[in-house]
Amino acid sequence: MKILVTGGAGFIGSAFIRMVIGETDWRVVNLDKLTYAGNLENLADVEHDARYRFVEGDIGDEALAGALMSGEKPDAIVHFAAESHVDRSILSPEPVIRTNLHGTFTLLEAARKNRLGRFVHVSTDEVYGSLPAPLEADESFPLNPSSPYSASKAGSDLLARSYFTTYRLPVVITRASNNYGPYQFPEKLIPLMIANALEDRPLPVYGDGMQVRDWLYVDDHCRGILEVLQKGREGEIYNIGGNRSLPNLEVVRQVLALAGKPESLIGYVTDRPGHDRRYALSSEKLTRETGWRPVMDFATGLARTIEWYRAHAAWVAHVRSGEYRAYYEKNYDTARWCAEPRT
Ligand code: NAD
Ligand code: DAU
Repeated sequence: MKILVTGGAGFIGSAFIRMVIGETDWRVVNLDKLTYAGNLENLADVEHDARYRFVEGDIGDEALAGALMSGEKPDAIVHFAAESHVDRSILSPEPVIRTNLHGTFTLLEAARKNRLGRFVHVSTDEVYGSLPAPLEADESFPLNPSSPYSASKAGSDLLARSYFTTYRLPVVITRASNNYGPYQFPEKLIPLMIANALEDRPLPVYGDGMQVRDWLYVDDHCRGILEVLQKGREGEIYNIGGNRSLPNLEVVRQVLALAGKPESLIGYVTDRPGHDRRYALSSEKLTRETGWRPVMDFATGLARTIEWYRAHAAWVAHVRSGEYRAYYEKNYDTARWCAEPRT
């Protein structure tokens, strides 16, 4: 088995490649543009393995995508590459639309022309939009995205599905809930809060902090994708949820408690525009068809994640230099900070 992985230098893609190289005899070709979120340090464990090859490039490069599929002849593609951050998609939607929509289109076309055996499109629960309690989205739930990021993912899901319906390209789509774990870029809630807490900096909670997310440990997500890659039915969608819904403020308090830091570090900032209040996902279909279920409990996963960030201060310092500082200052402008929670 040989797989083409896109976005393998990012958070989830690198965890997936480490798992595949560590636990199977498969070969992996990793196509990644190395944007601000791509980091080859994430792949230090596998970079010298003879079964691993890295190719730097853009998924929207038609010639490169075609050459990789015709030259490498992979059995399958697992497509992670994306602009993945909601706040950045609000500040600057253009790269999000270009990569998530046009980049996905370019890969689908190359896969169609080269008759690829399987196309796993990695997507998100954000495509279902905000759900009132106690609703949980299953795979037939209507799409109702709120941000440029989630709209681009919903669009790419529909495009991927159309390649199954129209051309019978063997597409399978996964939709996962919020991931956390080692190597996550510290722009997302959990790694940002850990990194700030470890440096005794204020923790910027949006609005009233009562938005709910369902937390999935990254290795549980990767195992779900492996199941879908091997057993998922063509043309189908599979939700992958963590079964651990928590309000953001509760997550932040747990980070502080585990890091041994005071709650006085919590600060409030004005809310994200169009902020989805609650995500909730049913993964019953994936469990029924493959036996998969999340195994990491949140307290253990969070403690392990905090320890990883504590032990990898150099990694954090590296990814927080340069472009990150400019982004942080723009997104967390001092005028945005409030004295107390705001709805
Ligand atoms: P990430 O931002 O950590 O990594 C994205 C990777 O894609 C980076 O290595 C980057 O260099 C690469 N990339 C970006 N644009 C590219 C392009 N044009 N060509 C080639 N490579 C490009 O993202 P992540 O959190 O690992 O997310 C991976 C995938 O999983 C995304 O598709 C995302 O929508 C989806 N997802 C993420 C989560 C989550 O909680 N992080 C949850 C559900 C689904
Ligand atoms: O649900 C899956 C999605 O989860 C993925 O598709 C996205 O790629 C991933 O970024 C994530 O999106 P969210 O917007 O849910 O994640 P984020 O970590 O940015 O925010 C989680 C919650 O925390 C959300 O309610 C906003 C809030 N938040 C976030 C940041 C960065 C804060 O309160 N303060 C912050 O500084």
